[in-house]
Amino acid sequence: MLKVILGIETSCDDTAAAVVVEGKLRANVVASQQALHNRYGGVVPELASRDHQRRIVPVVRQALEEAQLKPTDIDAVAVTYGPGLVGSLLVGLSFAKAFALGLGRPLIGVNHLEGHMYSVFLEPPSPPFPYLCLVVSGGHTQLVRVEAGFQHEVLGRTRDDAAGEAFDKVARLLGLGYPGGPKIDQLAQKGNPAFVHFPRPRLEGYDFSFSGLKTAVLYYLNQLSEAERSHLLKYHLADLCAAFQQAVVEVLIDALRRAVEATGIQHVAIVGGVSANSGLRAAAEALSRTLNFQLYIPPIAYCMDNAAMIAITGYYKAQAGLESPLTLSAEPTLAV
Ligand code: KG4
Ligand code: ZN
Repeated sequence: MLKVILGIETSCDDTAAAVVVEGKLRANVVASQQALHNRYGGVVPELASRDHQRRIVPVVRQALEEAQLKPTDIDAVAVTYGPGLVGSLLVGLSFAKAFALGLGRPLIGVNHLEGHMYSVFLEPPSPPFPYLCLVVSGGHTQLVRVEAGFQHEVLGRTRDDAAGEAFDKVARLLGLGYPGGPKIDQLAQKGNPAFVHFPRPRLEGYDFSFSGLKTAVLYYLNQLSEAERSHLLKYHLADLCAAFQQAVVEVLIDALRRAVEATGIQHVAIVGGVSANSGLRAAAEALSRTLNFQLYIPPIAYCMDNAAMIAITGYYKAQAGLESPLTLSAEPTLAV
């Protein structure tokens, strides 16, 4: 039985390692590269992979120290192999393969999106199967019906920008820096969402589209004179953020409401970076009371990219005998 799992995550701009022992989190280390990419307004892939290379060994070492374990105590190594930036993925994957090969332990490849989907199993309460899972991150937005462990059906996904990407792009338009989601969220809490009405794109089924919303914000800013624009950014920035955030939240909540009504599933999880959004959390809680379903949103540390979710997914994969060959390659466009 594989009890002690080292999880490694380097798919984007966080170098992370975690240890799960018999399904319980024992250590969780994340080294964020945010400061490195901040001034470029987004993640620079080449800088990201170089930084992962610098940090991967100390981050893993720290996770082992926090778990009070030696490398030889590890039973299996779980690692994100996609989706993500190829140069970033390769650092974690190469490290994990070397670690597994050196110690003669199995390698377990984990899909980053599955990691988000199973992040709800890190801490109780966790949902029973089946549950609906809204994955909202910087790279992905999808609504998934999770039938059982490693069996799921994607009900809908974004056709263009992910929800987090829309937050980041709009934040950039407003000069708020990267990543913009938390900044918009903070400002939105003080703003009036009725200040301006942005469109709520609704597609067939459960698919999403957020690029039009971002463009609507751009057009709104562009039709103003220079003076109007600086007045707006000075006095109504919070209102603008609130209006934009409410549009995103309403689109997500509308899909969730329809999916709960259509499937009758009583357990709903919201995971990924955007699940940290206060407006989304409040609206989801209100919906759960109206439709009488159980809502599961992980603590913020497990919403953002982390290796704890990779380690816990790896743990369940190990119990199911789902190991990977050492020839496993990075898959930047891996889907679930
Ligand atoms: O899951 P995550 O850490 O990385 C990916 O897998 O993409 O998500 C990062 C995304 C970023 O786009 C960030 O702006 C967004 O999550 N985000 C938020 C909030 N906190 C993070 N978006 C809206 N409100 C927040 N409070
Ligand atoms: Zn993620």
